[in-house]
Amino acid sequence: MKASGFLALIISLITVTESKVYTRCKLAKIFVKAGLDNYRRFSLGNWICLAYYESHCNTTMQTLLKDGSTDYGIFQINSFTWCRRSRLHLTHQKNHCHVACSALVTDGLTDAILWAKKIVKEMQGMNYWQRWKKNCEGKDMSEWKRGCEVF
Ligand SMILES: *[C@@H]1O[C@H](CO)[C@@H](O)[C@H](O)[C@H]1NC(C)=O
Repeated sequence: MKASGFLALIISLITVTESKVYTRCKLAKIFVKAGLDNYRRFSLGNWICLAYYESHCNTTMQTLLKDGSTDYGIFQINSFTWCRRSRLHLTHQKNHCHVACSALVTDGLTDAILWAKKIVKEMQGMNYWQRWKKNCEGKDMSEWKRGCEVF
C-alpha cells in the first residue's frame, strides 16, 4: 500500500536524523583509533569520563546557555569561543577553530575529537570542562575502559 510505504519512508528518515548515543566501549575504540589515549598525558578513561559527564555520550547534544551561547556535541564545546554558528555570528565570537558548530554534532566524531584535542592543547589540560574537573579529575580512570578490549 502506498500509505504504508510512505509511512515507512518517513520513519526511516526520522531514524537517519536521530541522535547517536555511543556505548562506553564503542567510544573507547573510536577514541583509541583517533589517538586520544594519552593525548597530552590524558589517559583513555579521562576522555570517556569527559564524554559521559558532558553529554552522556550523545553526539548530537546541544545545550543553550544563559549567555546565549550553545554547547555542542559529545564534548559540549562552546560556540562562543570554539566554533561559529553562522557567518553573522563570526564578528563577536572568538572562534579559535574556524569550524562550524554543526560539524560538532554529527554522528562522526572526527571534528569533535579534533577540536577537543585543540582545546586540551591550547588550554594545557582539561580544565575547560567543569564536569571533567568535578567528576573525573584525579580519580581512578581505569574503570572507564574496563572490559572494552582496548589496550
Ligand atoms: C541527544 O541530544 C539531542 C539534542 O539535545 C536530544 O534531542 C536527544 O534526545 C538526545 N538523545 C538521547 C538518547 O538522550
